[in-house]
Amino acid sequence: MNISLRTKLIISFLALVIVTGSVSTFAGINLIGNSIIREQQDRVRTNLYSAREIYLGELKEIKDIVRLTALRFFIKEALLKNELEDMEEELLRIREEEQLDILTLTDKNGKVLFRASNPGVYGDSQAEDELINNVMLNNKAVASTQIISREELEKEGQDLAEQAYIKFIPTPNEKPRTENKETSGMVLKAAAPIMSYSNELLGFIYGARLLNRDYEIVDKVKDTVYEGVKYEGKDIGTVTIFQGDLRISTNVLNLDGSRAIGTRVSEEVYDQVLVEGLPWIGRAFVVNNWYISAYEPIKNIKGEIIGILYVGLLEKKFTDIQKNTMWIFLGIMLAVMIPALIISYFLASGILKPINHLADAAKRLAHGDLTQRVELTSRDEIGELAQVFNFMASSIKERDDQLKASVQQKIQESERLASLGRLAAGVAHEINNPLGAILLYSNLLLEESEPQDSKIENLKKIVRETTRCKEIVKGLLEFGRKTEPKKELSDINEILTRVLSLVEKQAPFQNIRINKTFQPYIPMIMIDKTQIQQVFMNIILNAAEAMQGKGSLTISTRLLEFENSIEIGFTDTGSGISHDNMKRLFEPFFTTKEETKGIGLGLAISYGIIKNHGGNIEVKSQIGKGATFIIKLPVKK
Ligand SMILES: Nc1ncnc2c1ncn2[C@@H]1O[C@H](COP(=O)(O)OP(=O)(O)O)[C@@H](O)[C@H]1O
Ligand SMILES: [Mg+2]
Repeated sequence: MNISLRTKLIISFLALVIVTGSVSTFAGINLIGNSIIREQQDRVRTNLYSAREIYLGELKEIKDIVRLTALRFFIKEALLKNELEDMEEELLRIREEEQLDILTLTDKNGKVLFRASNPGVYGDSQAEDELINNVMLNNKAVASTQIISREELEKEGQDLAEQAYIKFIPTPNEKPRTENKETSGMVLKAAAPIMSYSNELLGFIYGARLLNRDYEIVDKVKDTVYEGVKYEGKDIGTVTIFQGDLRISTNVLNLDGSRAIGTRVSEEVYDQVLVEGLPWIGRAFVVNNWYISAYEPIKNIKGEIIGILYVGLLEKKFTDIQKNTMWIFLGIMLAVMIPALIISYFLASGILKPINHLADAAKRLAHGDLTQRVELTSRDEIGELAQVFNFMASSIKERDDQLKASVQQKIQESERLASLGRLAAGVAHEINNPLGAILLYSNLLLEESEPQDSKIENLKKIVRETTRCKEIVKGLLEFGRKTEPKKELSDINEILTRVLSLVEKQAPFQNIRINKTFQPYIPMIMIDKTQIQQVFMNIILNAAEAMQGKGSLTISTRLLEFENSIEIGFTDTGSGISHDNMKRLFEPFFTTKEETKGIGLGLAISYGIIKNHGGNIEVKSQIGKGATFIIKLPVKK
C-alpha cells in the first residue's frame, strides 16, 4: 500500500494508545463489574439471612401467642367444666387483638370445639393435622409453615379460602404446570396442648396467619433491610414468599404498579430450590426487571419443601454504575488519545525531517549534482545514514573526477598519436621518392666502379644507410596508413599458435619458457589476419628483447562475456617499463634500444592496427619485474 512513513508512524502510535487503552478499559470495567456483582451477591445473601430471621420471628410470635393462650386460666376452666360460652368471647377477642387469621380450640381427641374465625363450623376432627399430631406425640407447643387445602380453609372461614385463591399469571421462563390456579393456602401456624392443673391433657389450641395476599412479612423485611430505598422510582430491594413456585406474597410490582401475585418462579430456580432443596444466588429476571437474587426453600414440619423465600436487589443501579465507569474510562482514553495524536504528529515530523533531507539530497545526487551533502543533526541511526551518504557522495565525486581525467588523457593521447601519424606519413611520402632516387643512383655508381676503386666502401655505406632509411619510411607509411583492414572470421588461438611456431625456434627464444593458457572454444572474430599477426609478433619480440633471452612469457586468451570481447594477454619477466617511458610507449620513434636494433615504430603501428579493429591495448608494468600487454578485440554478434 502507498502509505507515507508519517502516516504509518502516527497509526502505530495511535494503535499503541488504543490497544493499551482498550485493554485497560476492558479489564477495568470487568474488574469493577465483577467486584460489584460479587459484593451485591454477598449483600443479597445476608439480606436473605435477615429475611429468614424476620420470617422465623413471625412464626415464633404466633407460637408464643398460641402457647400463652393455652396456659390461660379461662380455657382450662371452660374445658374442665365444659362451659364454653365465656371462653368463646375470650378467644374471639384474642384472635382480633393478635391479628390471627385462625384460632381454634379442640378437645383432647382433636375434635373442634370452637373456631374463633368461623364460629358456625365445629365438631370436625383435626387429629390428622400435622401440627396437632406432633403436639399429641410430644406434648409440647410447635410452630411451622403449612399448606392448608381449600376444604380445610373453608372450614376456618370462607373469606380465608377466598383470600388464598390465586389464578396463575403466565410468566416468562416458568415451569409448565397442568394447573392454572392455586386453591390451597400457606400459613404460619402454631399448636399447643392445654393441660389441667394436675397435668392431664384437656385439649389443643391452634392459631395461624394466612400468608397468601398478606404483605406484612415481605414489607417488614423490605423496610428493615432496604429501608425503603428507591432507584429511579423503583424499590431497590424486593421480597417474596412463594407457595411452591407461586408468588403469594410479594412487593415485586407488575408494570401497572400492582403486586405481582400469581406469577411464578423460573424453571431454573424451580429445579434447584424446589427440587434439589438448595439455595440459588445469581442474576434473575423477576417479572419485568433484572435482580441480583437469592432464593431458599421453606419447609414444613416434616421437612418437606413447600415454598421459597426470596430477596432481590435491583440490578439496574449496579449496571448503571458499571456503565458510568465505562463512559469515564472511554472518556479518559479519548482524552489521552488527542494529546497522543498531537505528540505522535510532531514526533513523526521530527523523525522524518532528516530522512526527507536525505531523500532530496539523494535525488539531486542521482541527477548529477555530486556536490550534494547533508547536515549531520543527530547521533542516531539517521545521523549515521547521513554520514554514510556524505561519504558515498564524496567517493562518487572523487571517482568521477578520476574517470574524467583519465578519459581526457586518453583522448589527448590518441589525438596526439593521430596527428603524429599524419605528420609522419606526410614526411615519409615526401622522402620516399628522393630516397628511391638516391638508392638507384648510388647502386648504379657502385656497379660502374672498378673493384679496386677506393670509393667503393663509401658507396656501399651510402647504399646500406639509404636502405635503412627506406625501411624506416616504409614503417612510417604503414603507421600512417589509412586503408581499412581486410577482415575475415578468424580464430585468435590459431593465429597465436602460428606466430609462436615461427619465433620459437629462433635464437633469442632458446632460453625462454613459453606458457600458453588459451581458453578453448573461444568465439571466432572478424579481423585482418596479417595485421593482427604483425601486432602479436611485435609484442612477442619486444618481450624477448626485454628479457634478453632469459625468462618466461605467458600468453593467455579468454572471452570477456560481460564486455563481449576477447582478451589476449602477454606477460613477460623482463626489465619492465619506467613510469616516464610508459607515457610515450606508443609514440612513433620512441625506443630505448640502440640505433641499429630498434626504430621505435613497433608499438605505434600495433596501436594503430588495434584501434582500427575497434579494440584497445593497455600496458601494466613494474620496473625490474616485467610487463603485461593486454589487447581487447570486440566480438561481433
Ligand atoms: N615487453 C617489454 N618490456 C620492456 N620494455 C618494452 C617492452 N615492449 C616495449 N618496450 C619498450 O617500448 C619501446 C618501444 O617499443 P617498440 O615500439 O616496439 O620499438 P622498438 O622495439 O623498436 O624499440 C621499446 O624500446 C622498449 O623500451
Ligand atoms: Mg619493437
